[in-house]
Amino acid sequence: MRQIPNLQQAKALLDEAQALNPGIWVNHSIYVAKAARLISARCPSMDETVAYILGLLHDIGRRTGSGMRHVLDGYLFLMEQGFEDAARICMTHTFSYKDIQAIYGEWNCSAEELRMIKNYLNEVHYDDYDLLIQLCDSLVLPSGYSILEKRFVETVLKSGTNHLTVSKWKSVIALKDYFENKIGCSIYGLLPNIVENTFGEL
Ligand SMILES: [Fe+2]
Repeated sequence: MRQIPNLQQAKALLDEAQALNPGIWVNHSIYVAKAARLISARCPSMDETVAYILGLLHDIGRRTGSGMRHVLDGYLFLMEQGFEDAARICMTHTFSYKDIQAIYGEWNCSAEELRMIKNYLNEVHYDDYDLLIQLCDSLVLPSGYSILEKRFVETVLKSGTNHLTVSKWKSVIALKDYFENKIGCSIYGLLPNIVENTFGEL
């Protein structure tokens, strides 16, 4: 059995986090959760409620602040609560390309903390939930769902690029192909208002 909170507990954790550090990250988390539920509902080996809960909590590390250290903060917070499988998503959701430098922006962790993240990534074998939340995280703008390419460009305009940005993009595109193969249709066909949100009023 997976070590994750139930839905009610997950919502309470997100509410508490919102009170501590309100921001667009909360709505982002809800969009990610809904996308994860819609896609996993088409995957026979996945549980849509588990996917939803993991989506809700993937950025919970932002409860105490932000920057890239939310990855580690979220992991440590959920581990403390005994939710190991939700904690792992806090760590893995950023690394569709498994390299600690494959991020947007800069690390704000100590050298010791970075070593801890690096070691964790070396050890972990991604399952479909890790992969699904990585994908869904890239499908959401503050205003709702968009095609990956728009999200990529908006993120880069805000945070810049580095030598791994193209590798990271390719890894997310590979995730889209992976899940589309599983569900037999375009993921964009499942996401509400994606056309309006990507292109504006046509
Ligand atoms: Fe995140």
